[in-house]
Amino acid sequence: MSHTVRVRSAAAGDVEAILRLLKPFAEKNIILERDKDNVFQHLQEFLVAEYDEDLAGVVCVHIYGENLAEVRSLVVSPEYQKHGVGRLLVEGCEQWAASLGVAKLFALTYVTGFFQKLGYRIVSKESLPHKVWTVCVHCARFADCDEIAVEKTLSDTPIRPMAVVPIIEIDNL
Ligand SMILES: CC(C)(COP(=O)(O)OP(=O)(O)OC[C@H]1O[C@@H](n2cnc3c(N)ncnc32)[C@H](O)[C@@H]1OP(=O)(O)O)[C@@H](O)C(=O)NCCC(=O)NCCS
Repeated sequence: MSHTVRVRSAAAGDVEAILRLLKPFAEKNIILERDKDNVFQHLQEFLVAEYDEDLAGVVCVHIYGENLAEVRSLVVSPEYQKHGVGRLLVEGCEQWAASLGVAKLFALTYVTGFFQKLGYRIVSKESLPHKVWTVCVHCARFADCDEIAVEKTLSDTPIRPMAVVPIIEIDNL
């Protein structure tokens, strides 16, 4: 039987499920920890991947300016990984950021291979503006950050309305 994974904007009713998705990866310092207030305050920045009634993954896009936005808090639930859900979420971010006229997306990450598959290139962290680091002071690894910066120019990303953000069919999950 085939099921559909749909990427859509997050809603208030998703917050508890988003927190459940983020928690184990925040505990391992793979992503920054967020509490419920933080997720509500940034809710309009979140996209979720929905598999039937379940949230299979989440991502957040934080806009710094016309030239730059960051992919943050990207998590696919372990049971849904390796089925293209992470790709859908990042492509959803790209559509959303491009539709708002943002030129470039970047991420600080340990999964460079994943981002490279999606067309991102490794750049030096020094090339990013200082304001990018303001949230990093809350990270346990701030003093000794070994994340790698990756970025992608969005000018070639075709702009489609959010109503048709990527949808895929997954078989045999
Ligand atoms: C990283 C993560 C989001 C990837 O999600 P996913 O749904 O498993 O990824 P996809 O199935 O969409 O993979 C897309 C492509 O990237 C590849 N890929 C996935 N994870 C990879 C990894 N860790 N290293 C290298 N390539 C990877 C896939 O093989 C696939 O390649 P293909 O198109 O040639 O088949 C997921 O593994 C995850 O949530 N990890 C834990 C949290 C984390 O590290 N988040 C990133 C914070 S920046």
